[in-house]
Amino acid sequence: MGDGWILGIESTAHTFSFGAVTSDGTPIPSASSIIRPIEGGIHPREAADHHSEISGELLRRLLSEQDLMMDDLEGVAFSQGPGLGPCLRVGASVARAISTSRKVPLLGVNHCVAHIEIGRAICGCDDPVLLYVSGGNTQVIARLDGRYRVLGETLDIGIGNMLDKFARHHGFPFPGGPEIERSALAHLEIVPNPSIENLELPYAVQGMDLAFSGILNAADTLVQKGASFESVCWSLQEHAFAACIEVAERALAHTGKSELLLGGGVACNERIRNMTSVMCEERGALGHWPPKMYCVDNGTMIALLGRLQMISSGPTDLIDSAVDQMLRTDMTAIAWS
Ligand code: ATP
Ligand code: FE2
Repeated sequence: MGDGWILGIESTAHTFSFGAVTSDGTPIPSASSIIRPIEGGIHPREAADHHSEISGELLRRLLSEQDLMMDDLEGVAFSQGPGLGPCLRVGASVARAISTSRKVPLLGVNHCVAHIEIGRAICGCDDPVLLYVSGGNTQVIARLDGRYRVLGETLDIGIGNMLDKFARHHGFPFPGGPEIERSALAHLEIVPNPSIENLELPYAVQGMDLAFSGILNAADTLVQKGASFESVCWSLQEHAFAACIEVAERALAHTGKSELLLGGGVACNERIRNMTSVMCEERGALGHWPPKMYCVDNGTMIALLGRLQMISSGPTDLIDSAVDQMLRTDMTAIAWS
């Protein structure tokens, strides 16, 4: 192996991130910046402005922190979708500019598939069911006949989006998930054995699919009626995570697979990791999750998938490099093992 490396640029939503892998596929940590709106949700154009302003600084940071040389660059990958159009276009433009000026292959990749492949690579699992729990997405996925098939997914909002909205309604800025995790733990310190019946919330499972807006409204109402924010955070986590784990378990049973891999920002949560361990242990399966920096959006996973594509199917032609806001997990052909 020489010093060759592949750059990955992530820009689907709130996070702009430059990461890399070596030419043999070893992950190199990313340099990232997250836009945190003072109030309200993420405004696509403001996020895109943030991304273009910080772009040069992040690339310089990646190069200096990881001791990488532009002369050794062998390819540049970017998130082609799904995501917010203005944000995706910043990443794509930066990638096209670098690819053209350095004369290296351009690689447009599917963001959702990148969450899967970084987990497979780092956790060393082969053919898992993936529980992909992020802000915008909640999907249960398994590989079959050269595609990652979506076996079940949210019918309304992503689980992370639901957690972020609940936190925001009660005064906590994006990202709300970590604050909800802290508050749920604080509740356990006061009430070590809380009962799920005390704070009833709707059940999020709908066949193999999920829905979270009903839980969000009910949780808001509980706080309005006087329940403590901490107790509702605990109950919200128990209900929402149990629903995801139930669908994931059914996917393991249907497919006969024996590994469950967590991915996406909500996979940072210790409680969903713990529920995964318990369920997997009970059915003789193995639960996996990557380190937190590779659960949240990061450029490294984009570089890693770009490398797999470069080896298996070659680069993306400029004419095919337009972003696709609606790109789905199952739209990308999987040509690697
Ligand atoms: P995608 O485009 O894949 O949907 P995303 O834009 O939502 O990704 P991610 O970085 O994968 O970005 O996930 C961010 C989400 O993860 C946010 O909703 C955030 O609240 C949630 N999150 C992060 N840490 C935790 C945690 N410890 N517990 C629960 N949720 C968390
Ligand atoms: Fe993501």
